Amino acid sequence: MTHAFSPISVAAGFAALILSVPTASAQQTYERFGFAQTERGRYIAILGDCAACHTAPGGAPLAGGLRFETPVGAIISSNITPDRENGIGKMTLKEFDAAMREGIGQGGKRLYPAMPYPAFSNMTDEDIADLYAWIMAQQPAPAQINSNELKFPFDIRTGMIAWNMINFKPDAFKPDPAQSAEWNRGGYIVEGPGHCGACHSGKTITMGDKSSEHLTGAIIENWVAPNITGDAEAGLGAWEEQDIIAYLKTGANRFDIASGGMMDVIRHSSRMWTDGDLKAVAVYLKSQPGRSGKPLAAALPETDMRMQAGARIYKDRCSACHFDNGEGYPGLFPSLAGAGSVNAEEPTSVLHVVLAGSRAVATPAAPTGPAMPSLGWALSDNDIANVVTYVRNAFGNTAAPVSTEQVATARAALQP
Ligand code: HEC
Ligand code: HEC
Ligand code: HEC
Repeated sequence: MTHAFSPISVAAGFAALILSVPTASAQQTYERFGFAQTERGRYIAILGDCAACHTAPGGAPLAGGLRFETPVGAIISSNITPDRENGIGKMTLKEFDAAMREGIGQGGKRLYPAMPYPAFSNMTDEDIADLYAWIMAQQPAPAQINSNELKFPFDIRTGMIAWNMINFKPDAFKPDPAQSAEWNRGGYIVEGPGHCGACHSGKTITMGDKSSEHLTGAIIENWVAPNITGDAEAGLGAWEEQDIIAYLKTGANRFDIASGGMMDVIRHSSRMWTDGDLKAVAVYLKSQPGRSGKPLAAALPETDMRMQAGARIYKDRCSACHFDNGEGYPGLFPSLAGAGSVNAEEPTSVLHVVLAGSRAVATPAAPTGPAMPSLGWALSDNDIANVVTYVRNAFGNTAAPVSTEQVATARAALQP
């Protein structure tokens, strides 16, 4: 005899029932758009990393309030929950589309490109509609956000009309029929919802993307977002597809451990991508040409005074974790040999890490986040210049030496 209705299975079934009852608005949205479309939209929101920018620390999901500091004041992300008063509950699909692909927000206000609409303009009609269905099924939150704390004259939104004329051509991603379906899928994610170029492409004076520096690296808030093209020297040339996949899925591979700005991208977005999408992005990145042909500078000779001083500091302060040969330990201490951040033209990232330390991202696939200690308190600007010059010219690395003034400037930029 079987006991189909044991107390435990009844309780479990009841709990599942409670958990599966959607809110009134979600219920209506499922009825309006259907489960399949809403679910597709959920995945587009992951690809587009909406939650990372539209959720403040400790705030309700998608209720906005995250600050983007700029030299001329702050831009604050909007509440994009379906709350009708303070969110985007009154937006029609057409209006939502205009925000996503043209940078025109509610009431016709011009959005600042802190919202990556230049990249989102590559998205398909279908993805925008699915995303809308999912957003409208989320829990409304009443948070009231004033998104614009910029100083005059940058607070005037119509200024963005001129910016758009210089920097923005709304343009859908054009698949390349000569390439595989996988490559085209990767290209769509990188150029569209994934908005990788927002951080990884070189910027013009007005902060538009420079087409000649597509994905070849840029400086974002004292970090370098490195070159992620297939370029052999400056880019991901040494990374196999499998290395790119591991990095995007777990935050670590045999070359690098993510920290800084990439940590948010991995945590809220790429670690939840499908295996097929991870592979497609890896294929696409490896195919990107980069800035090839640029001659490499020769490394400083070991007899250089800075190299000798730097080697001594390295032995005392760094070799315990990064080892004498600079190769670190896979998954725990990143290799400084051949590391993009170490060899970058601008020493911004290395200086940030050495001065302020950093904690690697923890993901469910790689749960421990080892930490790089802050050494800014222990070492003078001159010591840091020497040790960073050393790591940029030892272990096969070749990058310009770093001056004491550059360290002083980086230190000042990190003061709160
Ligand atoms: C890199 C950060 C960032 C990402 C990623 C991002 N947004 Fe935004 N978004 C912003 C900021 C900042 C604003 C406010 C801009 C302004 O006020 O000019 C904004 C504004 C908006 C608006 C306009 C709201 C209004 O009231 O007019 C919508 C809609 C929106 N975002 C939807 C999304 C969706 C959907 C996603 C994911 C696919 C997304 N955003 C991803 C930063 C981001
Ligand atoms: C918010 C800015 C930002 C966005 C958006 C972003 N990245 Fe990054 N990325 C960084 C930074 C900063 C680093 C430097 C390493 C770190 O943070 O640890 C990095 C590092 C990387 C690396 C490792 C490169 C190396 O040489 O170590 C890869 C690969 C990468 N990103 C791929 C991507 C892809 C693919 C996308 C789009 C889906 C993307 N990134 C979007 C900021 C960003
Ligand atoms: C106690 C161990 C430890 C010591 C000592 C240490 N590091 Fe690190 N370092 C780490 C860990 C762990 C990371 C990765 C953390 C992260 O990415 O957030 C790291 C990251 C770095 C990175 C970034 C590498 C990349 O892939 O982007 C650089 C550069 C670096 N360390 C240089 C140094 C230098 C130079 C010294 C000595 C002045 C030093 N470290 C001392 C543990 C250490």
